[in-house]
Amino acid sequence: MNFELTEEQLAVRDAARDFAQNVLKAGVIERDTEQKFPTEEVKQLGALGFLGIMVDTKYGGSGMDAISYVLAMEEISKIDASTSVIMSVNNSLACYGLEKYGTEAQKQKFLVPLASGQKIGAFCLSEPEAGSDATSQRTTAIDMGDHYLLNGTKNWITNGGSASTYIVIAQTDVEKGHKGINAIIVEKDMPGFVVGAKEDKLGIRGSDTHTLMFTDVKVPKENRLGEDGFGFKFAMKTLAGGRIGIAAQALGIASGAYDLALAYSKERKTFGQEIYKHQAIGFKLADMATQIESARLLVYKAAALKDAGENYDLASSMAKLYASEVAMKQTVEAVQIHGGYGFVKEYHVERHMRDAKITQIYEGTSEVQKIVISRSILKD
Ligand code: CAA
Repeated sequence: MNFELTEEQLAVRDAARDFAQNVLKAGVIERDTEQKFPTEEVKQLGALGFLGIMVDTKYGGSGMDAISYVLAMEEISKIDASTSVIMSVNNSLACYGLEKYGTEAQKQKFLVPLASGQKIGAFCLSEPEAGSDATSQRTTAIDMGDHYLLNGTKNWITNGGSASTYIVIAQTDVEKGHKGINAIIVEKDMPGFVVGAKEDKLGIRGSDTHTLMFTDVKVPKENRLGEDGFGFKFAMKTLAGGRIGIAAQALGIASGAYDLALAYSKERKTFGQEIYKHQAIGFKLADMATQIESARLLVYKAAALKDAGENYDLASSMAKLYASEVAMKQTVEAVQIHGGYGFVKEYHVERHMRDAKITQIYEGTSEVQKIVISRSILKD
């Protein structure tokens, strides 16, 4: 696999880097502290074409590849993982599913505004009793002929309050198990749909995460994605791509913390010399650099397989598992290298450490990734 980047890919990476440094960085601590959604910044992401990076230009997207997407995700996550998760969910979970499985009418109505950044999308799978065990959906979408009657509760929904378009996974026929699940498009203004309170989170505090309640919401039949009963496979296929985005986010969080730790180790002196000259710190930096580069290769591999039209389920789970473990481990090390300074907000690394944790949880916990990986490598 050749990971030499094209001029177009390098231009995307540089644009994302400039945006992160020049736009996102200034307010990132305030947004984290106050749990403030980056409204203006997300509009600019849309103007840059980063909310529909892989979507065909005929549907308002940028028509780029998955490698470009992970490059942009890494750069933005180096500075602000709250903004990057908003971007990732919109790209991977909302736009991808609509473009791949939507009808032409659904694409015109729902994909174009999401890909062009006029609206934001959300993906609603998790429930109080269905997180990792995604087939145990309690939310019901009962077939009423020309519409579905949607009832239930969804939890921990990224973009829960800021989205306008929600892809909701719900059970239509409980007798059929996962084959009775559907994915339906719900609009925010549909009667009976209520956005619950915003979660007060450990990390990615600038993004808005909500509980959503549906009571007798009438969703037109034409809002169903794919054939009747395709909802669970729709969710699995969509999440496989989403995991590439979160792997790139984890990679960015880790490399952002590494950049800070490296720079700090060259400034800070103890015992008469810069701390990077102490082997205890030099070895930590060596481990960080090696593991981050390994994670990067796994992320690029998953993206390259997607671009080549090959199956990327295994590669995306491996990338997400490894990159998120590296992010958690190495952001702790970055705080350690900073000593007392690492424990205060001004130095940014404590935020990276808090943000890293969610990458081991959402879009499938590390344990879920190990289920996917072990099933794949152990099958006959
Ligand atoms: N592509 C296509 N089909 C797939 C598939 C894939 N990647 N993975 C599974 N399937 C199919 C299977 O083939 C099977 O179909 P058949 O019966 O026709 O063969 C069906 O789906 C059921 O599969 P499993 O038996 O493997 O299902 P399972 O109940 O054992 O669950 C699991 C497997 C991997 C644990 C799955 O439930 C899972 O991924 N759980 C985690 C869900 C998750 O990621 N949640 C995150 C919420 S979204 C989020 O976090 C977004 C956000 O806000 C940031």
